Amino acid sequence: MSTTYKSIGSSYNKKQGKVAFAAPSNIALVKYWGKRPVQLPENASLSFTLNVCRTETAIAYKKRAVSGNDFSITFLFEGAPKPSFVPKIHTFFERIAPYCLFLKDFEFIIDSKNTFPHSSGIASSASGMSALAMCLVEIECELGGLLSAVERKEKASFLARLGSGSACRSIEGPVTIWGKHQIINKSSNEFAVPFEGELHPIFRNYQDTVLLIDKGEKQVSSTVGHNLMYGHPFAKARFEQANANLEKLNAVLQNGDMDQFIEIVESEALTLHAMMMTSLPYFILMKSNTLEVINAIWNYRKASEIPVCFTLDAGANVHVLYPERHKKEVMEFINEELAEKCQNKQYICDNLGFGAKKL
Ligand code: PMV
Repeated sequence: MSTTYKSIGSSYNKKQGKVAFAAPSNIALVKYWGKRPVQLPENASLSFTLNVCRTETAIAYKKRAVSGNDFSITFLFEGAPKPSFVPKIHTFFERIAPYCLFLKDFEFIIDSKNTFPHSSGIASSASGMSALAMCLVEIECELGGLLSAVERKEKASFLARLGSGSACRSIEGPVTIWGKHQIINKSSNEFAVPFEGELHPIFRNYQDTVLLIDKGEKQVSSTVGHNLMYGHPFAKARFEQANANLEKLNAVLQNGDMDQFIEIVESEALTLHAMMMTSLPYFILMKSNTLEVINAIWNYRKASEIPVCFTLDAGANVHVLYPERHKKEVMEFINEELAEKCQNKQYICDNLGFGAKKL
């Protein structure tokens, strides 16, 4: 892949500059769980790009008098120095260095902030890594790298993937697909591509209200979780099922069949957690309130006939998904029945977004 992406050498157009991007989080409908080196998915996944939950990152760069053997990184979080984040970025820079040849020739001051509440249990790795990747590609172009608009996004997705797999799906929106799949043109294991079909109107500005059930530290990191799919008794069937679900969902997103949408999305969420419960060691990330919320959503859907459904991330929080035209009733339901199951009655109202943006 390194040869596909032209990366500039040592003659630069600029000695210093500053770039800034905002990038959103995303929520997978067909889940990625299981990978092989380096950050390559075992199955294709599909996600909704979010809008409200974002990371905003600015990078100031300056040519070093003498190129270092190592990177020069200063990291600020919400304007204050946060040296504890530097090792993670250092590892990321090491991984992407073959594709960004300028990294050791400059010093970087990275200033980042999230629009969602701190320690809300919402992973900031997807938005954080994709904002960082967009900034680095922009710097490369300012320094003289020749990349078309399409190549920029592709490269940013490629780099973000090396930081955190699912981050590659946050560059574009409102729906992206990552992982080689026979029915998706140009799909790749190395970067995500935008959904190509015409999204049925019911999915336009689709709502995602994220219920913050448990804001604590995750018991199991996603890296550990992915690794438990090696030798997992159901791994092969799971990867095949995900690819089959992606094919079905690709059609549903165009024909608007809500019964099928709900079935695929909820089954994917529960299967992800079933994989965790059936690995060795096994673990449960859902809390009792996660289950109570799921049951309340099922009862409400049955009684109201409103096509509201849920999905889950690798944690206890519940994403409540529904068409924009039912926002009023569903918000009433959330406030009356679900908010009390959230920590401090907290939830975040998000909706479909269009990916990373230059600031
Ligand atoms: O990107 P990672 O390595 O944090 O893995 C994310 C895995 C899930 O969020 C559980 C599923 C997905 O496809 O986003």
